[in-house]
Amino acid sequence: MHETRAPRFSDATLQALRRSEQIVALTGSGISAESGIPTFRGEDGLWKGYRAEELATAEGFRRDPGRVWEWYRWRMRMFRQANPNPGHQALARLEARAALTVVTQNIDGLHQRAGSRRVLELHGSVWRVKCLRPACRRGDAEAPDDPQGVPSCACGAPLRPDVVWFGEALPGDVLDGAAAAVSSCDVALVIGTSALVYPAAMLPVIALDAGAYVIELNPEPTPLTPRVHDSLRGRAGDLLPKLVDEALS
Ligand code: OAD
Repeated sequence: MHETRAPRFSDATLQALRRSEQIVALTGSGISAESGIPTFRGEDGLWKGYRAEELATAEGFRRDPGRVWEWYRWRMRMFRQANPNPGHQALARLEARAALTVVTQNIDGLHQRAGSRRVLELHGSVWRVKCLRPACRRGDAEAPDDPQGVPSCACGAPLRPDVVWFGEALPGDVLDGAAAAVSSCDVALVIGTSALVYPAAMLPVIALDAGAYVIELNPEPTPLTPRVHDSLRGRAGDLLPKLVDEALS
């Protein structure tokens, strides 16, 4: 017979969470892995089978907008069929009891569907579209339910997913909000990100420099691991509910 033992968290980590006045959760694709959504890097990562320069750059979109839309349609269907997992749900529970901001690199909308309300989407959202012409705001809208071909803006130009592609700047107001949140938080949880993509990867460093207690949750080490106060090795869907429940108990 096997006994299932709850993971033990250090006193320092539990105390930091219990005493915190402001918490930031910085999330990457790993938090959605247990919802059945592939991450980007690693053995089964999306960037093994797809070329980022064709599908996630403005140049790739100009070259073949139909192919880019086809890829995003596939991802939208996958996100729609997925459900928030216990990791997303634990963060929503934590926000109900503490001042928590979620800063995510994900475009899948699963944090909001789990009930998180303060969510900053660094890389945009697949559920919105915008006009390919940056000066035109007429196309800014919710994405069509099942966009066919290449949807058009009222001005006639193609609409594109309102996501951040490689080589593009992050939305300034969102990045400013995220930088302000990490500069003033007591605890930062860094969950399911390889911490390789900038400027998102700067945010935990800003939190560390500002004196926050930083906890990483990831099955694998990352370049950030040597710098954090606590590194919890495991899956977000296993670790987060236990950590949140223990910290709130
Ligand atoms: P990556 O694919 O680079 O990293 C995913 C991380 O999640 C890895 O460190 C895994 O070890 C970890 N992971 C896997 N399963 C997990 C689980 N169940 N629980 C917790 N962690 C788990 O994805 P991101 O860091 O999100 O950008 O990638 C950042 C950006 O690169 C993305 O937003 C995307 C991508 O290219 C754009 O498309 C602009």
